[in-house]
Amino acid sequence: MNTLSEKLETSQLFETSLLDGPQGVIGAPLPRVEGPLKVSGKATYTAEFEVDNLAYGYLVLSTVPKARVTGVDEARSRAVKGLIEIYRDAKFLPYSNQPGETDSPEAPHEQVIYAGQPLALVVAETYEAAREAGELLRFEYDEQPAELAFDGREDQAKREADDVAPAYIDQGDIEQAMRDAEVTLDVIYTTPSQNSAAMEPHATIAQWQGDKLVVHSSLQMLSTDHKQLAKALDMEKENIRLLAPYVGGGFGSKLFISPGIVASAIAAKALGRPVKTVLTRQQVFQCTVRRSNTRQRVRLGAGRDGKLIAMGHDTFSSNVVGHGFFEPAGIATQFLYAGKHRHIHHDVIHSNIMLAGSMRAPGEGSGALALECAMDEMAQQLGLDPIEFRKRNEPERDPGKDVPFSSRKLVQCMEEGAERFGWSERSATPGQHLEGEWLVGMGMAAAARGNLLMASQARVILTSKGTAVVETDMTDIGTGTYTILAQIAGEVLGLDISSVEVKLGDTAFPPASGSGGSFGASSAGSSVYLACEAIRKELAKKLGCKPDELVLKDGTASAGDCSKSLAELAGDGISAEGSIKPGENKKNFTQAGFGAHFAEVAVNAVTGEVRVRRMLGVFAAGRILNAKTARSQCLGGMTFGIGAALEEAIIHDPRTNKVVNHDLAEYHVPVNADIPQLEVHFIEERDTAANPMQSKGIGELAISGAGAAIANAIHNACGVRVRDYPLTLDKLLDGLPPI
Ligand code: MOS
Repeated sequence: MNTLSEKLETSQLFETSLLDGPQGVIGAPLPRVEGPLKVSGKATYTAEFEVDNLAYGYLVLSTVPKARVTGVDEARSRAVKGLIEIYRDAKFLPYSNQPGETDSPEAPHEQVIYAGQPLALVVAETYEAAREAGELLRFEYDEQPAELAFDGREDQAKREADDVAPAYIDQGDIEQAMRDAEVTLDVIYTTPSQNSAAMEPHATIAQWQGDKLVVHSSLQMLSTDHKQLAKALDMEKENIRLLAPYVGGGFGSKLFISPGIVASAIAAKALGRPVKTVLTRQQVFQCTVRRSNTRQRVRLGAGRDGKLIAMGHDTFSSNVVGHGFFEPAGIATQFLYAGKHRHIHHDVIHSNIMLAGSMRAPGEGSGALALECAMDEMAQQLGLDPIEFRKRNEPERDPGKDVPFSSRKLVQCMEEGAERFGWSERSATPGQHLEGEWLVGMGMAAAARGNLLMASQARVILTSKGTAVVETDMTDIGTGTYTILAQIAGEVLGLDISSVEVKLGDTAFPPASGSGGSFGASSAGSSVYLACEAIRKELAKKLGCKPDELVLKDGTASAGDCSKSLAELAGDGISAEGSIKPGENKKNFTQAGFGAHFAEVAVNAVTGEVRVRRMLGVFAAGRILNAKTARSQCLGGMTFGIGAALEEAIIHDPRTNKVVNHDLAEYHVPVNADIPQLEVHFIEERDTAANPMQSKGIGELAISGAGAAIANAIHNACGVRVRDYPLTLDKLLDGLPPI
């Protein structure tokens, strides 16, 4: 079978799309195709693969924040029945977790730079023995004075390279603009460290077949992880196969290879048997990346007409030295509102603190908690409705880059949301609406999240039976990839999705974007689309018509009077590879999803307790590929918004920066009892600059601003403005009005 190919760089507008085909499966609210496997326990997650002769690994973490390791007392560990070996080479324990980076930097071997740093892998015959021996391992440390603080160290902050986002943006003269503005706001918001808290802990099974390595690991971006792993092990990636057919959430914490993967691979080689290492829940909190805490100064300056002239966002986040990542909290501030004088800075305060990296809308996830509340504060100062204030500052083009938006329906989202939510019933003056001892209020916030396209490849085979098989190393981390890719192939090839088999999560297949940055569906989906387009061209040739005359529906190809079944046309099968890359559109347009969040909350006037009563999110994210999975993404994003506003915070022990609340009992993520009726509405949109499917990213868009809408609603309910997240009742109590 020859393999056809279709390659595309996005340097043109996609005014038409093969997804507007007659099959009608795209966009349909289809349930996830792998759902039955998951609910019946038949979807195999990393730690569940059955492997013969397995040995069990357990990571041992540093208990001190800064020290030289001067020795190790292994005696008690070695006495544990079933212990096999203790590994503590530098090479075993990389602490890579950076966006865009394919290197896998080694942990400084004998140097501890944060509490929680992996120092050894203990391998035993059983998991219990490995854990017991690991806990009995005693490192001897020459402790060094650690830098543990964040607060008050802004003067020591450093600018990092622009790898994650532009670190500094300066346009005009913010200081002068703030002096000139008739109305100004200058406030500081703070957000805590957070953990992705994916349900499935990070896990790896490494096994060798001769010189070839097969690794099952819970990861989001296999093609990137594949390169990292090859580099860390000094191997050709062709000799490594990485698999992750099912992933139980990642939210950023599984973007890159995590502690345990390299160590397990090396231990497996040394032992000549497979090694499985599963992090404990506590280790997930302590040694995978967190979202950094932030300190964000927002400065807004406007005329009495409500038009912004000054927009300042100075952000500080924390990380260990030399790690490179900063929380890009001002990333959407660049393009969200008009204003001539702009100053957006990101600096990092380094300390001996666990690694920070990407988590659930890195940037917007915490940035909007500050910017969108500051906008609410400013609207109030100006005596304007928050929606009206935002409308007055709607830019026609990206105000920083001076390029057009590929699509921008923020105003429509706010207007549609206001109508649906009953925004007109909101009292502009806080604290007006009392129900028993509950103060009730409404708040809103804008949502904006940059849309990304990543290079992605996929193979599609039209079989001799007239069915299709999709193969790519794309992952489905619970988002619906299996289903969406089947819908795309089904729509372009004219097949019901029951005739499309999707195979994912295996580096034996063409390399895809992976799941991250809400780019997965559009990137991997486009490569599937292109592969199917190549097959369509071949089918047209075989039928003797032009591709645009070809109609594919229900397994039949027709053009004019001529009609044949796909099985007949496919012969021995037709195989095609699709490949997409970002082209000129990336710099010629600012691409983002937009939306509006609305929240109604009740604050108990006696206890300060907050109840979110209802929320509505209205989003414009280009073509919706599956109305059900898209909605679910938004429900998840809004739920994370509730977490960010009210609950989620890593508490660091100030003596060591160790995580105190390192499990799901003490680290509070929203549970069902916290979640009221959430409503999601999509505005019809096609983004013709994004990709041939005209779609944009969704999940993280729904996080951005969700927490701010709640904070603004709390202010509207009780008149208390808390600028330190999460907004727990202790912070509200003092300001509550008497009832
Ligand atoms: Mo996302 S934080 O890029 O998984």
